[in-house]
Amino acid sequence: MSISFSEDNGDEIITTTASIPEDTGEGSLRPKTLQEYIGQEKAKGNLEIFINAAKMRQEPLDHVLLHGPPGLGKTTLAAVIANEMGVNMRITSGPAIEKPGDLVAMLTNLNEGDILFVDEIHRLNRAYEEILYPAMEDYAIDIILGKGPSANSIHLDLPHFTLIGATTRSGQLTAPLRDRFGVTLRLELYTAEELQRIVTRSAGILGVAIEPQGAYEIASRSRGTPRIANRLLRRVRDYAMVKAGGVITRAVADEALSSLEVDKLGLDALDRRMLRSIIEFYNGGPVGLETLAATINEEAVTLEDVYEPYLLQHGFLTRTPRGRCVTRRAYEHLGIEYMGQQQMDF
Ligand code: ADE
Repeated sequence: MSISFSEDNGDEIITTTASIPEDTGEGSLRPKTLQEYIGQEKAKGNLEIFINAAKMRQEPLDHVLLHGPPGLGKTTLAAVIANEMGVNMRITSGPAIEKPGDLVAMLTNLNEGDILFVDEIHRLNRAYEEILYPAMEDYAIDIILGKGPSANSIHLDLPHFTLIGATTRSGQLTAPLRDRFGVTLRLELYTAEELQRIVTRSAGILGVAIEPQGAYEIASRSRGTPRIANRLLRRVRDYAMVKAGGVITRAVADEALSSLEVDKLGLDALDRRMLRSIIEFYNGGPVGLETLAATINEEAVTLEDVYEPYLLQHGFLTRTPRGRCVTRRAYEHLGIEYMGQQQMDF
């Protein structure tokens, strides 16, 4: 096995918010109840009320749309909802539904009260969305068999189910689909304190000794994302075992994360490359997203969905009508001299 720490490689890097093979132990760290679920207080508060009300009425929960950046626990939260409602959850995703029959099969195999979780629902084929409309509204679907004058339609009743859709881009959902969700919850990036609690909880489950400052060091370098925090925790644990007698202290976490090129504020090689490119090639901006993506050989959606939320939240980047601009803070963080606002006036 080889591990590459190069600044410029385009491979998966440890701070990616996407799920990567080494996250396979993630399941055991996932909270099962709302009580165990740390952070997202607003979404949790609303959910608690909706779940209790649905249980009191003995009805399934209204359809729920979860949106927000990747890695914030949308699947985890859906599983928590299923657990709290005491029902089963079936999981699929927009791109996995390749033909209408896939969706019909999922729907007709549900049991009363079940949850159907559709990840990346914005990538569901638009033509198949129309199957979902009557399914969501009336718990029924009409299937057309055959073509032309001999075509026949059969009406199928479905069990009362709850659709939970997850998306990183709610703006890409069509209005008719978005309108059919009774509950829409936005997940936010986690604070360092919330991530510190998550890291401490995960360390307990993994049986790793960790000091509070060690947990905080990992938390504050995890770009607001539990998936990254748990992944960094595992790497720091390995480092602590081999080099420091197994205890994760602040100094051990700092050394381990520095060797992984995760900087003090959690920026990784691609974040830095993105900020540096705007400075070096576009005088600090503004630069259009597509132009920037081409410059650093990444996809525009990856920059927008995965990288930008954290850089915007931490004030390294701004979005203007004319494109992206880096801030003074980004210059300072990268150690590049700031020469004032460099925009050209015409
Ligand atoms: N592990 C991953 N996400 C979590 C969360 N929000 N709360 C507790 N543990 C987690």
